[in-house]
Amino acid sequence: MKIFKDRVAVITGAASGFGREFAIIGARLGMKLVLADVQEDALEATRAELAQQGAAVIALRCDVRHAEQVQALADAAMKNFGAVHLVFNNAGVGSGGLIWENTQADWEWVLGVNLWGVIHGVRIFTNLMLECAKQDPGYEGHIVNTASMAGLLNAPTMGVYNVSKHAVVSLSESLYQDLQLVEAPIGTSVLCPYFVPTGISQSHRNRPGDVPGTAPTASQRVAQAMSDKAVTSGKVTAQEVAENTFKAIVDGQFYIFSHPGALSNVQDRMGEIVGQKNPGDPYKATPHIRDMLRAKIKN
Ligand SMILES: NC(=O)c1ccc[n+]([C@@H]2O[C@H](COP(=O)([O-])OP(=O)(O)OC[C@H]3O[C@@H](n4cnc5c(N)ncnc54)[C@H](O)[C@@H]3O)[C@@H](O)[C@H]2O)c1
Repeated sequence: MKIFKDRVAVITGAASGFGREFAIIGARLGMKLVLADVQEDALEATRAELAQQGAAVIALRCDVRHAEQVQALADAAMKNFGAVHLVFNNAGVGSGGLIWENTQADWEWVLGVNLWGVIHGVRIFTNLMLECAKQDPGYEGHIVNTASMAGLLNAPTMGVYNVSKHAVVSLSESLYQDLQLVEAPIGTSVLCPYFVPTGISQSHRNRPGDVPGTAPTASQRVAQAMSDKAVTSGKVTAQEVAENTFKAIVDGQFYIFSHPGALSNVQDRMGEIVGQKNPGDPYKATPHIRDMLRAKIKN
């Protein structure tokens, strides 16, 4: 996709972090914007800020776990702007702790947002975009799914999140292959950030009322502290990641990484798989962190 002006972008998780930065860049490029999130005050603040700058922008409360709400988002985009060209299936939440200590509600919430949100977005918007392409001989579209480096690695105490993000990488590669097969004018990218300062480690702020919480276990408390530290001390900004994402869309680049240096860990994992070895020690260079983790989890 090379042209953005007057084209329509739909962004989930648009009230904060990467989603908000996608919206700011989209507005700067003259796109018409459809913003979605569950946090209505922050969503409205983003909408108002961009509208004040002259952007054509609407915002809808949309919980991406629910197909009918994602369908309503697509309907609103068509009603207001008549087409959809660029979709960011970006909304996401995190949760940590030893994998067997997560409750069924934790699993359903994280997979509901991170995986089902992307499934609904891909199913509903790809069909819609293929229809839009039939109406417009010059149509160009692109879908960006936000996964994570956790979709390519399996760090301890992040199991539920890892599972959700591995599935998003698989879904995105499958979408890419299927769109190539039918020669659709729709590109695909998967965004795999490492730790970047956003609201992600505070995801529980938007944990919905229908997802009961329980008192955190020791491993969940340690995972929360580690995630807070890793996210807040990240040096690459959400704005830089969003700028690189738009560049990747123009270049038709599928994999988008915020920290390409971390890919050596992915290479190690692939080597273990191909070499039929057991998963390697993620703390081989930092054994003091493993010792600290073990001690705190046992307390
Ligand atoms: N920041 C990082 O370090 C990092 C690393 C890897 C991947 N990611 C991924 O990036 C994406 C964006 O997260 P972020 O880092 O900008 O965090 P963020 O918390 O700043 O933004 C996520 C947004 O998603 C919204 N959201 C949560 N549940 C929702 C739901 N059910 N329906 C609609 N919106 C919902 C939140 O309200 C929030 O505004 C997520 O998919 C996340 O997993 C982030």
